[in-house]
Amino acid sequence: MAFFSPETEQDLLKRGYSRRNFGRISALVAGGAALPFYNEAAMAQLSMRLDAPKDAVRINANENPLGPCPEAAEAMYAVIKGGGRYMYEKTFEFAKVQADLDGVKPDYVQPFAGSSAPLHYSVIAFTSKERGLVTADPDYEAAARAAQFVGAKVTKVKLDAANGYKHDVKAMLAADPNAGAYYVCNPNNPTGTLTPKSDIEWLIKNKPAGSVVILDEAYIHLTGADFGSDFVQQDKDVVILRTFSKLFGMAGLRAGAAIGRPDLLKKLMPYSSGALPVTGMVGATASLKVKDLVPKRREIIKATRENVLNWATSKGYSFIPSVSNKFMIDVKMPARQYVEGMVKEKVLVGRAWPSMPTYVRVSIGLPEEMEKWKIAHAKVMASV
Ligand SMILES: Cc1ncc(COP(=O)(O)O)c(C=O)c1O
Repeated sequence: MAFFSPETEQDLLKRGYSRRNFGRISALVAGGAALPFYNEAAMAQLSMRLDAPKDAVRINANENPLGPCPEAAEAMYAVIKGGGRYMYEKTFEFAKVQADLDGVKPDYVQPFAGSSAPLHYSVIAFTSKERGLVTADPDYEAAARAAQFVGAKVTKVKLDAANGYKHDVKAMLAADPNAGAYYVCNPNNPTGTLTPKSDIEWLIKNKPAGSVVILDEAYIHLTGADFGSDFVQQDKDVVILRTFSKLFGMAGLRAGAAIGRPDLLKKLMPYSSGALPVTGMVGATASLKVKDLVPKRREIIKATRENVLNWATSKGYSFIPSVSNKFMIDVKMPARQYVEGMVKEKVLVGRAWPSMPTYVRVSIGLPEEMEKWKIAHAKVMASV
């Protein structure tokens, strides 16, 4: 079976992968989004009933029910008629607009159809049996699962619960001082908690030579916190991942980017292939050009989140305070039981993490959807 170019094969072998790992690496590359449990939508299915009624409230995959902004929708509609062409220039245009916003040159931005692909490719490119992956716990599982799948070592380090569930970067480095990649999701999924930039800076400064920090900023727009762009401007060993699946409401339309030094991005490319969906590219570009889109949507989601969390506080439910479009709530029963109970009430909530067995992740939907969640939540909580 032929998988990769001879150079890429040599690189994989040099990093300690054996030819026996190639099949799995290739499966991850080829079918990443389709493999079970490697993206949010697939993982959401773990807590989703396929027979759930059409009118069920879907707050299980951290999506944005507002969908794409009108400018993006218009741009995508307009480009469809020309969809018989690859239109590579639309990808370059998106890279340029994103690069300008991040204060880097266009070759520091590599567009993708979402951020799952570059997350998988980063794991393959920077980890191996000897130089593993360090992640937080709980966090977005895709990086760790991809690493396990291809045979790289994974080390999980608990979030710092005593300090707002931030990443414990010192413990992450101590847990594997010779890792190939340190994965920091900021703000974190599922907790919706922020890690201070100074901590990320510390990790970048102190991590071993030849490793990278994979800084997953899928939800950063929701927080008002600083992006990590300046790390890239300073040519640090950082690969930032962004997606249009969250605040920008384009999960089903697919656009995202890896932002980093060209030599780091180049390492991702042997695993990537082909043209990107032109709809996603023009939708992303149009979204970025709407100056007040991010703050406006951030405020909308914040208002709904605060309403829900204030209500939860008033009713005495415990949860982890969040600055994102989801939060973890303690349901005081096995998570699965709560999830099942909520499905019966036609509310699809997210999943649980093994390290927090009675907590369930709930995404922030529309205000009216969250009203339905409140009623269902109170009912299911009262049932035990
Ligand atoms: C932290 C994080 N990173 C990456 C992704 C990948 O999403 P997408 O491939 O839609 O960009 C998700 C999806 O939920 C996520 O939560």
